[in-house]
This record gives sequence, C-alpha cells and structure tokens, in this order.
Amino acid sequence: MAKSLADIRAELGECRRCSLCDTRTTVVFGVGNHDAEVMFIGEAPGKQEDLGAEPFIGAAGKYLNELLQLAGLTREEIYIANVLKCRPPENRDPQPAEIEICSPFLREQVRAIAPQIIVTLGNFATRFILRTDRGITGLRGQIQITGPFSVLPIFHPAAAIYDRLKQPLMEQDFRLLGRLIETRRFEKNNVDKTTLCEEQP
Ligand code: URA
Repeated sequence: MAKSLADIRAELGECRRCSLCDTRTTVVFGVGNHDAEVMFIGEAPGKQEDLGAEPFIGAAGKYLNELLQLAGLTREEIYIANVLKCRPPENRDPQPAEIEICSPFLREQVRAIAPQIIVTLGNFATRFILRTDRGITGLRGQIQITGPFSVLPIFHPAAAIYDRLKQPLMEQDFRLLGRLIETRRFEKNNVDKTTLCEEQP
C-alpha cells in the first residue's frame, strides 16, 4: 500500500543523506493537491524555492503558472515536486549519486498521489520517470504511457525563459496537456459508467 505524503515527509525529515544538506537552507518536499489528476515534476529547488520551502515559486514558477492556464489548470489542482529535494549549489546539475539517494522519496510521492498524468519538466525529471537516456528536445510534446500513467515530457520552464524560441513549443505542449486531461476524464467517466452497468443485477 502507498504511504501517505505525511509519512513520506516525516521519513525524509531534515535529510542529511547527501552533501547537499551542507549548502541548502530548507528541504523542499512538494506542494499541492494530494488527489491531483496531474503531477508536475521538476529538477531541483532553485534559490527562491530553497528559501521559501516550496517548488516553483521563483521566475520559472511564475512562468509555469501562466502556462497552466493554457491547459485549463490552476496551481491548486496540481501537485508539484522535484527529483532532488535540496538545492544544488549555484543551481548546478543534479549528480547521479544525489538522484539515486533522493529519488526514492519522489517515487513514493508518485505512488501516494497516483496521478493520471505526469508532466516531466526538463531532462532530469524525464529521464527519471521514463527511465531513458534520451534528451528532452527529442521527447517533448510526445505522450508516453508507462504503467498507469500518461507521461508528457515538456521543456523546463527555466530553459524557455532563457531561450525564447522555445516558448511557442511550451504553449503548444500545455495546450496538448489540456486535451490529454479532457481525454483521460472522458475515458474515466465512461469506464466508471461501464463498471456501473456491469454491476447492475
Ligand atoms: N526549477 C526546478 O526544477 N524546480 C523548482 O522547484 C524550481 C526551479
């Protein structure tokens, strides 16, 4: 059985499992709706997140909030977490050993939320969730099915702030996300109805 988010958070505690604990301010666990249909996964906390103890509250988060509207979503509806729970110094890339140590907590969060759809933001989240070495440029905007989840890889919002040419593609992918949500809701509704019909005596 899946652990509760509260239990996972308690287990993570004031983590000292890797050296990021020496430079971080706070452990950034995750935030949002515990019954979310859609879970977003980023890379690691940045400076603002490290100070504010919440994922995506800096510039990338503000841009993400705008993009969510294109998919018909609000921050309150979704759950957001990162592959790493602590900020790497100077926002350097996560190291393989850090991902190995930290990712079991993300795996437990995915089990606890059990979303219909997972949106992976950037290379690190995409590689972790899809267990692939392929890069985000080749994978973005292509819905993948893994187990019970539809996974939609998307560029990291920070990459699209830095490279404006990516912004139309981001918008396209968030509109696709909106259509994917509609489709999954429609399928769920119909499966529920079929199940109900089958259960009739
Ligand atoms: N970038 C991420 O990947 N995660 C955050 O929480 C903030 C910026």
